[in-house]
Amino acid sequence: MKERGNTRRSFIKTSGAIAAAASLPLYSGIPLYASPSNSNVLKVGLIGCGGRGTGAANQALKADKNVVLTAMADIFEDRITESHQNLLKNHPDKVKVDKANRYVGFDGFDKILNSDVDVVILATPPNFRPDHIEKAVNAGKHIFTEKPMAVDAPGVRRVLESVEKAKKKNLSIVSGFCWRYHSPKRETFGKILDGAVGDVHTIYNTYNTGALWWRDVQPGWNSMMKRMRNWIYHNWISGDHIIEQAIHSIDMMSWAFGDVKPVSITATGGRQSRIEEQYGNVYDHFAVVYEYENGAKGFHFCRQQKNCSNSYAVEVMGSEGHAMIDCIRNRHTITGKEQWRFRGEDNDMYQQEHDELFASIRSGKAMNDGEWMMRSTLLGIAGRMAAYSGQTITYDQALNSQEKLGPDYVDQNTVFEDPAIARPGITPFL
Ligand SMILES: NC(=O)c1ccc[n+]([C@@H]2O[C@H](COP(=O)([O-])OP(=O)(O)OC[C@H]3O[C@@H](n4cnc5c(N)ncnc54)[C@H](O)[C@@H]3O)[C@@H](O)[C@H]2O)c1
Repeated sequence: MKERGNTRRSFIKTSGAIAAAASLPLYSGIPLYASPSNSNVLKVGLIGCGGRGTGAANQALKADKNVVLTAMADIFEDRITESHQNLLKNHPDKVKVDKANRYVGFDGFDKILNSDVDVVILATPPNFRPDHIEKAVNAGKHIFTEKPMAVDAPGVRRVLESVEKAKKKNLSIVSGFCWRYHSPKRETFGKILDGAVGDVHTIYNTYNTGALWWRDVQPGWNSMMKRMRNWIYHNWISGDHIIEQAIHSIDMMSWAFGDVKPVSITATGGRQSRIEEQYGNVYDHFAVVYEYENGAKGFHFCRQQKNCSNSYAVEVMGSEGHAMIDCIRNRHTITGKEQWRFRGEDNDMYQQEHDELFASIRSGKAMNDGEWMMRSTLLGIAGRMAAYSGQTITYDQALNSQEKLGPDYVDQNTVFEDPAIARPGITPFL
């Protein structure tokens, strides 16, 4: 273990240095609009005007003096109206979206791409992301994309192709894996990657939370629109909660392991407390083991069950110490050969994402979160596939999986029955 660990440490130290350099706040202290070359207006289009999309648009408008919002798209008019009112209140001079630029429907995204926006914010449910990312890159737009970026392996492969294309076109892709933009975590993970706890051999990480929201079904909603309103409960739209929500913890685990790929994935899961039909086909708990080439293991637990204890943390155990990253209490500590606690300045990670995105566009040096964001997304998907099927799968099997959860095309009249609730040992790994 030690010998192999040392080899791995050398790799991680190198990749840690790269990660630390890449994670330094860009242009900190320099007003983004100070350079004369920054005088042109950057136009933003928002796709998916829900909670996160509205938040992200708000942050984009604060990231740079010369940014305006010129188009919005959603499949529901009420969501655009609410989001537009909210943004207009906060940025009366920067929201330039009239009725003609508010696109309702599944094709609203294509209409935004045909407009002259420079940047798109992708904040729909994740099943649409591979298509949206691919089309945005083809149209030459810079991208802020919420996590996760796919719900199945064909989607992951499609995004990976777009990531390469974006690099060639010098287009920025910044991901909504927000903890990677959080100063306390950047410092803590930077220290771990620099060897503060020795060779990392075990990571235990959690996203154990309560029940989520539910939108009461209204008269006139057809079967597709019922699903779209309550998308988190349909695995082909959300990916299931291990991808849609718990992926943040899996992403931090992957970060601490230096974003290297695991060898195999074994998992269990099911639905025990959220069993009513209205909750579609998703599970309410998962437990996953990720095994790495050097013998290290990552253990992930997540659940969405009410009246249970909560935990949202990453615990990193190494040959010479231990690191605790507690997302609920916002505490970051290291014990062992080094005794350390983050006492620096906190930041708004959501704002940081956009500050760096717009700074990269202004500088002409594109940022691209593509590879690590897709590794983390695939780790979540692999955990789900291993739990659903009950099989141990390799990372490469997961990447090459042919399972496609949803239909190729979706609009409001598409009729599509959810895949049956998975039964380990019976549901195949495809
Ligand atoms: N990084 C974070 O901390 C964080 C936090 C919350 C949500 N998210 C992610 O952001 C995404 C959106 O989540 P949310 O909480 O805002 O959900 P939400 O339901 O509030 O918003 C999603 C919006 O997208 C719209 N939509 C659905 N399909 C569409 C389509 N094809 N074209 C245009 N609009 C469409 C919906 O009508 C809805 O208004 C998810 O991927 C979620 O995982 C990330």
